[in-house]
Amino acid sequence: MGDLNVEQIGYSEKVMEHFTNPRNVGKIENPDGYGKVGNPVCGDLMEMFIKVDDDIITDIKFRTFGCGSAIATSSMVTEMAKGMHVDEAMKITRGDVADELEGLPPRKMHCSNLAANALQEAITDYKKRKAEKE
Ligand code: FES
Repeated sequence: MGDLNVEQIGYSEKVMEHFTNPRNVGKIENPDGYGKVGNPVCGDLMEMFIKVDDDIITDIKFRTFGCGSAIATSSMVTEMAKGMHVDEAMKITRGDVADELEGLPPRKMHCSNLAANALQEAITDYKKRKAEKE
């Protein structure tokens, strides 16, 4: 069997790099926000945990039971969101994540939805908890 030619399949080097060496994998105990989303079509699941200080995301971790693109996109989204104001992070779209990764094959764009949506869910959860405290 020859070497797998990832470029032929359409994965950028950056996608492969995040897939083989994902950042911020794991779980945060007592997070300030938590999001969990699933894709009913492929059955993949993603969880996102955030720690927030004064509306700034100070720590973020994810766990995914998903494909390589889901792993790469969630790794990327955690890197993008760390240090961001929650309102800014809320605006990160799947297109932004894919751009940062130098593209995803069209068939895999839905995977980046999962990452962006899980982050949005976690931020929504954070805002809800904050409103309840006030
Ligand atoms: Fe389901 Fe990628 S195939 S998230």
